[in-house]
Amino acid sequence: MTDHVPIITVDGPSGAGKGTICQLMANRLGFHYLDSGALYRLLVLAARRHTVDLRNVESLVVLAAHMDIYFNMNSEFESQVILEGEDISALIRGEDIGADASTIAAHIEVRAALLSRQRVFAKSPGLVADGRDMGTIVFPDADAKIFLTANPEIRAKRRHKQLMDKGKDVSLASLIEQVKERDERDMTRKSSPMVPAHDAVIIDSSHMSINGVLELGLDVAKKNGIHSQ
Ligand code: DC
Repeated sequence: MTDHVPIITVDGPSGAGKGTICQLMANRLGFHYLDSGALYRLLVLAARRHTVDLRNVESLVVLAAHMDIYFNMNSEFESQVILEGEDISALIRGEDIGADASTIAAHIEVRAALLSRQRVFAKSPGLVADGRDMGTIVFPDADAKIFLTANPEIRAKRRHKQLMDKGKDVSLASLIEQVKERDERDMTRKSSPMVPAHDAVIIDSSHMSINGVLELGLDVAKKNGIHSQ
């Protein structure tokens, strides 16, 4: 008999605040953190570096199964992503990689190849899993499920602020367009579309503080038997 590993899934569109909330929750609970979007982004970067065409699904599947990746939490509890020994955390955050990740994520074969690479994160003392299909496909038996959303304009504004803070001047109107395009692609794909699990608690973060969302998330976890240390 194996010990039960508690799992909290947090799904939802880009910019809803999943990454921040999941890392804070994992930190508070002392759990592992899975950034599943980073796996799709990593696959895009690995394909670019190995000159694999993003339309070549067969080669993407091989790369997905074999790419040499490693996730690490640094001392500030930020997730670091290592590809072939190099810290590429910042490199995979670009809008272009996000859009390509969303495109390759539509292939059922690519999703299947990444499935086992996501499930290995379910280790004691527990896992907070961040993505689009964590509660529906990857961890359907998760203890607590959250679907975190926010309206597209607010999500684009948050992203705009992040980019401006980094000295990158991008038009807000084009970001709103990109956010809507990515939502549309992620929600309408045939394979594992982004939808709330039937047993997920829906949280709209549009007008909430990070702390407010965190407390609500921990409350959902608690109601499902998962307690902060
Ligand atoms: O969460 P993110 O923005 O880093 O994800 C990038 C893209 O990867 C997203 O637009 C769709 C895809 N993705 C997915 O299909 N399933 C997941 N569980 C996570 C991400």
